[in-house]
Amino acid sequence: MGKREASKQVLALGAEVQPISPGEIEEKARGLVAQMSLDEKIGQMSGDSSRILGALAMMRGYNMRPIPAGVNERLGIPGIQFSDGPRGVVMNHSTCFPVAMARGATWDVALEERVGDAIGVEVRSLGGNFFAGVCINLLRHPAWGRAQETYGEDPFHLGEMGVALTRGAQRHVMACVKHFACNSIENSRMRVDVRIGERALREMYLPHFRRCVDEGIASVMSAYNKVNGEYCGHNSRLLRGILKDEWGFDGFVMSDFVWGIRDAGAAALGGQDLEMPFRWHFANDLPGLVTSGEVPEEMLDEAVMRLLRQKIRFSQTGEPERYGEHQVASDAHRALAREAAQKSIVLLTNDAVPETGKPLLPLDLTRIERLALVGKLANTPNTGDTGSSQVRPPYVVTPAEGIRAALGGTAALIQDTGGDPRRAADAARAADAVVVVVGYSSKDEGEYVDILGRKSGGDRSSLYLHPEDEALIHTVASANPNTVVVMMGGSAIITERWRGRVPAILMAWYPGMEGGHALADVLFGRVNPSGKLPCVFPRSGDHLPPFDSNADSVVYDYWHGYRKLEKEGLEPAFPFGFGLSYTTFSYANLSLESDTVALDGAICAAVDVTNTGDRAGDEIVQVYISYPEAAVERPVRELKAFARVSTEPGETRRVEFKIPVRRLAYWDEQRNRWWVEPVRHTLHAGPSSIAAELLAADFQITDTR
Ligand code: BGC
Repeated sequence: MGKREASKQVLALGAEVQPISPGEIEEKARGLVAQMSLDEKIGQMSGDSSRILGALAMMRGYNMRPIPAGVNERLGIPGIQFSDGPRGVVMNHSTCFPVAMARGATWDVALEERVGDAIGVEVRSLGGNFFAGVCINLLRHPAWGRAQETYGEDPFHLGEMGVALTRGAQRHVMACVKHFACNSIENSRMRVDVRIGERALREMYLPHFRRCVDEGIASVMSAYNKVNGEYCGHNSRLLRGILKDEWGFDGFVMSDFVWGIRDAGAAALGGQDLEMPFRWHFANDLPGLVTSGEVPEEMLDEAVMRLLRQKIRFSQTGEPERYGEHQVASDAHRALAREAAQKSIVLLTNDAVPETGKPLLPLDLTRIERLALVGKLANTPNTGDTGSSQVRPPYVVTPAEGIRAALGGTAALIQDTGGDPRRAADAARAADAVVVVVGYSSKDEGEYVDILGRKSGGDRSSLYLHPEDEALIHTVASANPNTVVVMMGGSAIITERWRGRVPAILMAWYPGMEGGHALADVLFGRVNPSGKLPCVFPRSGDHLPPFDSNADSVVYDYWHGYRKLEKEGLEPAFPFGFGLSYTTFSYANLSLESDTVALDGAICAAVDVTNTGDRAGDEIVQVYISYPEAAVERPVRELKAFARVSTEPGETRRVEFKIPVRRLAYWDEQRNRWWVEPVRHTLHAGPSSIAAELLAADFQITDTR
């Protein structure tokens, strides 16, 4: 069988989907390992291309086709056929969804699972069997260049969203969660040593990875950076100690690409199973290391077993009738991208304007004859960075295209790039309302890529809008009070220098290929905005942890995001979990099934949410826990559950939550284990992390230890 046929076999196997029991998988995998030569084992543990051919293929267009690893013709073992993400499928011309941070703002796990399902179908339809796009690194600081690839700053929320994407994708292909662990600085990612204590590691940086492991994710990608002095790709404490031994992960660890392994022996001993994307350190050095006894061959057997287990498991899953090139960027997937973008847009402010005495948004088309659209991002495709997560959709609907389509000729559209302030002011004055589209692009933030001196992305150099964007907002707002600012970007933006000048602000993130339509849907009220912030928007960078994108060494302490601001009593510009709607909601009747709960039990809570406005709308109901009697320092309040509910005007929905008590544990450094204190706790339910808007109920945890 040739290489091509072997890779086709992945699909052929899927065409006769037959469930296979875990026992049969083990037996089959063991049988294959027993027949392998040392070279064949190392072949399983390496990408298939040589360094030169692989590098050339990447330069021609990263991941246009699946990247193969471990195809074994003699034994008929289909290889891994890798596709990157998470914005969609990087291969070919696929559906470009809003970036993960935007999807984080939907707080919609069912939607994220559908996104995962669509991605899985597209990967499979393009000849892949592996999706490496479950990125759940914690957003420690909004300047992180790859913030857009993750879902936000809260470990619980990250876990829920990551699991949803995994569940959807793994109906069709293996999924890989990345980057394990503490990968939250971009520019110095290849060298930075993250020094971190056990409690911060366990409570803030690892729980969401654990959730994906418990969900049965096939693979974990090790990060480039070091943790406590050891590269993550060699880090036996993380890979063997915590991931494999403690959590019982039975999938495989894959290196981050090219520089994820520095030394074959350290990596193999550390618990690395697959070197990607080339045959390099493992292929060159493992034969000698095994012969000399420095790396026991049983370790290679274990790695190969891990790889085979997942290859066999997934060669027998899927829904073959759903695969085919017509599925890639299909009507249904593009509609899903639009829905995700609609639900991700966050309405940050919406004040009354003098003319009507009513909030500016939604823009009332019966009153608008001329609408001005200003800013250089207004008619620029802006779907995110140009690193490994770049998806190449067949088209991108810009804000201008979406707005023009929605206006359908009912109002004139005056477009201006905003480059000349006088012209922009004239355009604003001539219109009944103005939409200003400003923010970041791949030039400002993203994966740091330096190809032959051509650099792009990297960590942000500022948390403010570009000075010319801020000046444009001032100019336009002076010319027309009916101004709405639409911001694009991968995470928090500081708005202090201009926020008070405009009545309405929308955070649109990088909204994907259908983003322009989704934005117009929200602006004109076809869709009621429902996104909420998955990361705090501070008033000042001084309120955040220190961030040095060139650090060789950095300390990650326990405090970041809303937890840090609340501990220090600092008011954010827009709190974690915050987002407005065109309707209003009220909360009442918070009740607990019982006010005592056993350690191994669950807290059952329910709360009424009423749509008190005159429009249907979705609300994201959030549950936080506080620890008034804790013996150790705990966050003021932590997210422990959430739900998105749809309501009609006047409708009341009773929303129920069940929170296992173990979710309230902290990492006890003395006992070196998770620990729940048998004391009084408080449950808070409401629309965001704002204390004044939360209802509260106490419960006592009873000690049954
Ligand atoms: C990134 C990974 C990506 C890999 C493959 C690395 O630089 O950190 O997220 O999956 O490249 O392109």
